[in-house]
Amino acid sequence: MSKTQVLLVGAAGETGGSIANGLLSDGRFDVIALVRPASIHKPAIQRLSDNGIQIRKCDLKAPEEHLIEALSEIDVVISCVGPAEQQDQIPLAKAAKKAGVKRFIPCGFITVSPPGGVMWLRDEKEIVYNQIRQLWLPYTIVDVGWWYQLSYPRLPSGRVDYAMTSGNDEIIGDGNMPTALTDLRDIGRYMAMIISDPRTLNKKILAYNLVSTQNQIYQLMEELAEEKVDRNYVPEETICSRVVAARQASETYPFDPIKFIPRYLAEYQYSWGIRGDNNPEYAKYLGYHLTTELYPEFQPTDFREYLESVIRGTAKGVYTDRVISRKHQRHFPRTESSDSPIHSHFPADRVQRIPHVAMI
Ligand SMILES: NC(=O)c1ccc[n+]([C@@H]2O[C@H](COP(=O)([O-])OP(=O)(O)OC[C@H]3O[C@@H](n4cnc5c(N)ncnc54)[C@H](OP(=O)(O)O)[C@@H]3O)[C@@H](O)[C@H]2O)c1
Repeated sequence: MSKTQVLLVGAAGETGGSIANGLLSDGRFDVIALVRPASIHKPAIQRLSDNGIQIRKCDLKAPEEHLIEALSEIDVVISCVGPAEQQDQIPLAKAAKKAGVKRFIPCGFITVSPPGGVMWLRDEKEIVYNQIRQLWLPYTIVDVGWWYQLSYPRLPSGRVDYAMTSGNDEIIGDGNMPTALTDLRDIGRYMAMIISDPRTLNKKILAYNLVSTQNQIYQLMEELAEEKVDRNYVPEETICSRVVAARQASETYPFDPIKFIPRYLAEYQYSWGIRGDNNPEYAKYLGYHLTTELYPEFQPTDFREYLESVIRGTAKGVYTDRVISRKHQRHFPRTESSDSPIHSHFPADRVQRIPHVAMI
């Protein structure tokens, strides 16, 4: 049987890298990476090529005829672009419709949350989903739990610092909010099943490994590391105030990652830590199908074993090669819609007033 031809956008990124690995090791797919010309000489792209991935050079901002050409003979498109590039997927979706692509997976891969003002990043993605539906383009939206790789606290000894993206020393609220977790490395294995499954066409899927609370994660980390970790509980009012401040600071355009990163980080904490959105039961209510029900035979990476590898010093950190600089600024040619319901989510009496300062 001929292999399914998959065009992967963002194959050198964190999510895209997991998906490239998962599809290649499954064996049923040819993986073709869409790489923008500016990145073609990056060592990460050479590594993709060495692993048997074909490279097609094209920017998402290229003229439509170039995108259609890049999509020739492609069955499935999977997009894993970063937060700033969500709407660049719209021309790709239009070209995919014209090229006859059989399934388009836009860049979801975010924690569960409702659209409409809770999370800016969610709303950026929903704009793309609406465009896809207007095109009547076959699609699957895949969201995932909070990555294992971002979930655990720092140890006072510093021995897990090598694998940490940030200090991660905050417990949101009382720490008892259940949240879905997914090993970043399992996303590709989930995708191999999801894109081959007719049941997932035109559906939303939550791919997750387990549900845990921050208190449970801290306890497990202490037990495995035999180290005491201080508890730094951050109350709901502080999280809400941070969200408001980050929204105020990010209101101006052009898009500035220095201001938007604090915004979407605060909104993530608000969504999964305070509202409790990132939960399989709520996902089902929102219309998601769960991988635990679709694929009961799937063996996810065990969270305890993952934490043991972190403590042992053999885990791989995420975003270890990143520098955010002003050169990544870009223009968003639209007005912000997700600020408008701010007071329905953050009534004035619940929010500490914050001076209008830039968040750095
Ligand atoms: N659930 C969680 O815990 C969690 C955590 C983090 C992120 N996420 C989600 O995962 C999604 C993907 O994030 P990530 O961190 O995996 O991404 P990432 O590592 O930043 O990678 C983004 C990729 O997109 C490529 N790209 C950007 N613009 C492009 C263009 N115009 N043309 C072609 N390629 C382009 C980049 O290529 P270059 O090499 O050319 O730059 C890069 O390979 C995010 O949208 C976020 O919602 C979820």
